[in-house]
Amino acid sequence: MSTPFTVAVTGAAGQIGYALLYRLASGDLLGDRPVRLRLLEVEPALKALEGVVMELDDCAFPNLAGVEIGSDPRRMFDGANLAMLVGAMPRKAGMERSDLLTANGAIFTEQGRALAASAADDVRVVVTGNPANTNALIAYHNASGIPRERFSALTRLDHNRARALLAERAGRPVRDVTGMTIWGNHSTTQYPDVFNAKVCGVPADRWIADDGWINFDFIPTVARRGAAVIAARGSSSAASAANATIEHSRDWLLGTPEGEWTSMAVPSDGSYGVPDGLVSSFPVTCSAGDWSIVQGLPISAFAQAKIDASLGELQGERDAVRALGLI
Ligand code: NAD
Ligand code: LMR
Repeated sequence: MSTPFTVAVTGAAGQIGYALLYRLASGDLLGDRPVRLRLLEVEPALKALEGVVMELDDCAFPNLAGVEIGSDPRRMFDGANLAMLVGAMPRKAGMERSDLLTANGAIFTEQGRALAASAADDVRVVVTGNPANTNALIAYHNASGIPRERFSALTRLDHNRARALLAERAGRPVRDVTGMTIWGNHSTTQYPDVFNAKVCGVPADRWIADDGWINFDFIPTVARRGAAVIAARGSSSAASAANATIEHSRDWLLGTPEGEWTSMAVPSDGSYGVPDGLVSSFPVTCSAGDWSIVQGLPISAFAQAKIDASLGELQGERDAVRALGLI
């Protein structure tokens, strides 16, 4: 029997948590390898979380090696090999952007410090809670001793949305769509890149051959999909966000499929002119727990302008959290 792999999940009593935990426990992350769960919540949500744990018990998952819950990040991150930072402060009516950054800044500075104090030496961190890129930036700046390459933010949901939409338009199964990239921020400024994607091995823009659809339909639909789900469901995407958080983590830990890349927001190493350290989405391949940015993709003037707009937004968020003393 192999050693259990410890996964810490924050915001575990929330919507995404409810869609995520059962999949983690049933083997969707690491197959038969036993998984131990450490679930962090704010004090008032611990009662609800107890119910979630009862249900986990009632599933009798053979590879679930234990579940702990609590509201102390240092205790819940103790020995974590993977931390899924899902819990965040949602924007409320009347809240300014700076209020949101301040509220999340408090959460992600504390959690960055707690990860540095108690997580396992090999910890990897994925931030799902919004604003995901900047929350990851705050966390890595406050996690002294953990290499910044171990921090990432989720843009896999945008990546999956883009693949699904392109596949539908092309009339092909999703598996035929490869080479998708999300550039920039997990926000409406993101740039989903059709021009480096392929359908059945053929450049996607040649397959589709409709710039109007790409510019005025595909790009805004992907970028605004989160808002569309909120408008339809009354709350933000949960099952698809949980699925993307697992796929992101699985590819990172076990490797991306041969010949394919995925999208992850990671601290920039300066590739494609993205300012060093900014947590921006790139095309990445992963192998044995490390990611590397796919180099040399052609970027047109149109694409560069879109990417620059998203980078401008990320730099604005970085400057705001710097001014607040969070990084
Ligand atoms: P939710 O409100 O249902 O759950 C969030 C949970 O986080 C709550 O139970 C809350 O008590 C908990 N929480 C708040 N502060 C915490 C803290 N300091 N420590 C631990 N737990 C804390 O929200 P949800 O639908 O599960 O979404 C969670 C986050 O994910 C939101 O920020 C949402 O915008 C974001 N999201 C991101 C993506 C993405 O693709 N990156 C997609 C969907 C949703
Ligand atoms: C999503 O992309 O579905 C979410 O990030 C939307 C949101 O604001 O929670």
